[in-house]
Amino acid sequence: MNNHLIALNNFSRQQLQSLIVRAMVLKQESRNGKRQDQLVGRTIALVFDKPSTRTRVSFEAAMYGLGGQVIFIPTKETQLSRGEPLKDMARVLDRYVDAIVMRTHGQEIVEEVARYSKVPVINALTDLYHPCQILSDIMTVIESKGAPENLKIVWLGDGNNMANSWIEAASCMGFGLTLACPEGYGPDETVLEQAMKKAKKPITLLHDPVEAITNADVVNVDVWASMGQEDEQQKRLDIFKSFQLNKELLAKANPSAVVLHCLPAHREEEITEEVLEGAQCVAFDQAENKMHLHKAILESFVCRTKNK
Ligand code: CP
Ligand code: NVA
Repeated sequence: MNNHLIALNNFSRQQLQSLIVRAMVLKQESRNGKRQDQLVGRTIALVFDKPSTRTRVSFEAAMYGLGGQVIFIPTKETQLSRGEPLKDMARVLDRYVDAIVMRTHGQEIVEEVARYSKVPVINALTDLYHPCQILSDIMTVIESKGAPENLKIVWLGDGNNMANSWIEAASCMGFGLTLACPEGYGPDETVLEQAMKKAKKPITLLHDPVEAITNADVVNVDVWASMGQEDEQQKRLDIFKSFQLNKELLAKANPSAVVLHCLPAHREEEITEEVLEGAQCVAFDQAENKMHLHKAILESFVCRTKNK
């Protein structure tokens, strides 16, 4: 297995599946009150350059839950903010900690840290990808609807970091994916092209939300303006209007369809309050599963490093 988790396309179907299956086991163990202490004596650093509620707290809770320790490092409080090169930070942190979990802007930033770090680097969201989130989302899909290869899974809205990681997951794990994005707001072209070449089931990009959602089993939505795109927020409200997941649009999906939202949600923009709070929405199970999935990731990656 790769030493770093910075994009899903570096992994096989079996490797991704085994992380999800392990997360399900760890979730059940937690429910049964089993003590989990496989990372006692281990420490991770969370280096975050963007806000976070779920990813930060679920990684911290996961690490503490496995008996380990966490150092949270807002990038602006490090010497990076005064010009220290990333490659120096990577080669310093790897002397102190057993893994570096990073949330930042450019994918090239986590790639550079991974190039220099001797300990695993985990991508906790970049402008291009949100790989750990998609693994816990697939876990939620399996729990609520069964095997993804038997389902119509739909992405509605912006072709953002979440969409790109869903595309890579679909191609690596062999399930189909239908995306509907406004013209000019599609996913990363290289990500889509490479995934389509590798895919066993169709990955389809549409521009009509009604066509995409018809007979869907799983409907994914996310904010229309991601972190870093705040100045486009107003303009996007108009462009994305017809992609809002409301009761009428959801009625085109299968009646038993589930709705996923990675949160935070902007109510009455990409999703209505009624749908977010409705019986079909599994967003809060999804949020919980981040913690179990992050335990599986930490257990798998941190256990490979030598004790300091
Ligand atoms: N879903 C997600 O990544 O949420 P946060 O931005 O709160 O971490
Ligand atoms: N696409 C969103 C996801 C937030 C978890 C963003 O990058 O802001």
